[in-house]
Amino acid sequence: MNILVTGGAGYIGSHTCVALLEAGHSVIIADNLCNSKAENVKKIIKIAGQEITFYEIDVTDSQAIEALFKNYKIDGVIHFAGLKAVGESVEKPLSYYYNNIVSTMVLAKACEKYNVNKLVFSSSATVYGDNTVPFVETMNLLPTTNPYGETKAMSERILTDIAKANPAFSVSLLRYFNPVGAHESGLLGEAPNGVPNNLMPFVTQVAKGKLDKLRVFGNDYPTVDGTGVRDYIHVMDLAEGHVAALNNLTKGVHIYNLGTGQGTSVLELVHAFEEANDIEVPYEFIERRPGDIASCYADASKAERELGWTAKRDIVAMCRDAWRFEKKLKDLVETD
Ligand code: NAD
Ligand code: WQD
Repeated sequence: MNILVTGGAGYIGSHTCVALLEAGHSVIIADNLCNSKAENVKKIIKIAGQEITFYEIDVTDSQAIEALFKNYKIDGVIHFAGLKAVGESVEKPLSYYYNNIVSTMVLAKACEKYNVNKLVFSSSATVYGDNTVPFVETMNLLPTTNPYGETKAMSERILTDIAKANPAFSVSLLRYFNPVGAHESGLLGEAPNGVPNNLMPFVTQVAKGKLDKLRVFGNDYPTVDGTGVRDYIHVMDLAEGHVAALNNLTKGVHIYNLGTGQGTSVLELVHAFEEANDIEVPYEFIERRPGDIASCYADASKAERELGWTAKRDIVAMCRDAWRFEKKLKDLVETD
C-alpha cells in the first residue's frame, strides 16, 4: 500500500516508516519539522535501503494536504503529527487544541473527499485517566489532567463519529503506553529538545553526564517499591504494531492498546539500565509530579488476539538501544 505518514520524521513516525518499508509498503511523509529534523528522513532511507517521498508541510494546512491527496494515490494514512508535551499543553492549550484537533479534521476531510478509507491514529494510554490497571479497551475513558490528553480523547471521538456515519471508513485508534528505546542501528531514536520530560531520555542524559542525576518523582506510591509503574514498550515493537493494525484494518472503529502488559517501576527501570549498560545512574527522590498516576499498564491481549501482534523486545533491549542511540548522538556532536 501507499501510506501517507503524518509526523513521519518524528520519534515514533520515523521508526514506523522503517517498519512499513520493510513490510513492503511505500511511504509519503508529511511533517512540518516543528519537533524533528529532515535528516531523520535520510536515516529512514539509509536503514531501509529504499526511497521515500517527503513533504515539509503542516497538516493543519488543508490546501497542502488536499494537494497531496490529489497528486498521489494514497491507500491509507497513519496520523502521528501532533504536539505531545503534557506540561507545555497546560501553558499553551490553544496551540495544542488547534494543532492536534485541526490536523485530525483536515486529514479526515481529505480522506472523505478522495475516498481514502483507512486511517490509523496515534492515541495514548493517557485517555484512561486514573482507571484501575490493567487498562482494557472497553473501559470508560476518564478525564485526563491536561489539554494534551483531551486532544487525544477528542480526536478519538471525532474519528469514531465519522466512521459511524460512513460505513466504508476503517479507523484504528492505537493507544500507546510508554514508548522508549531506539532503532538497533543507533541511527534513529528519541532526541528531545532541552531538558527531557520523559524518564528514559532523562536517564540516558544522566548516564552520559549531561545531567547530574535523575530526580525520581515520588517514592510513596502504592507500588512494588513506591515509585511510579509504567508499561514501557520498545519503539520498534510499537512501529510493528502499526503495520499489523494497517494490514488487518477492517471497516468500522477498532481500538487497541499497544503495550507489553508488563509494569516496570522507575527504580526497576533505572537498575535495568545500569545492568544492561554497565553504567551508573545517580538518582534522588523528590516529591510527586502533579498529574502523575501510580500505575499505568496495558491489558495487551486484544492486539494479540485480533492483530496477531505482541511486543517482543524486553526492558534490557529497550535500555541497551536507548543508550546506543544516546552515545551515537554524542559521537555526532563531538565530530561536528
Ligand atoms: P514527535 O514530536 O517526535 O513526532 C511528531 C512529529 O509530528 C514531529 O516530527 C513534528 O515535527 C510533527 N508535527 C507536529 N505537528 C505537526 C503539524 N501540524 N503538521 C505536520 N507535522 C507536525 O512525537 P512522537 O513521540 O513521535 O509522537 C507521535 C505521536 O504519538 C503524537 O501524536 C503523540 O501525541 C503520540 N503519542 C506519543 C507518545 C510518546 O510517549 N512519545 C505516547 C502516546 C502517544
Ligand atoms: C514515567 C515515570 C514519572 C521523569 C507521558 C505522558 C503520556 C505519554 C507518555 C504521550 C513516571 C517518572 C519521569 C523524571 C521520574 N505521552 N519520572 N523522573 O508520565 O507515564 O507518560 O509520556 O501520550 O501521555 O504523560 O511518562 O516518562 O514522563 O514518566 O521519576 O525525570 O517516570 O513520575 O512514574 P508518563 P514519563
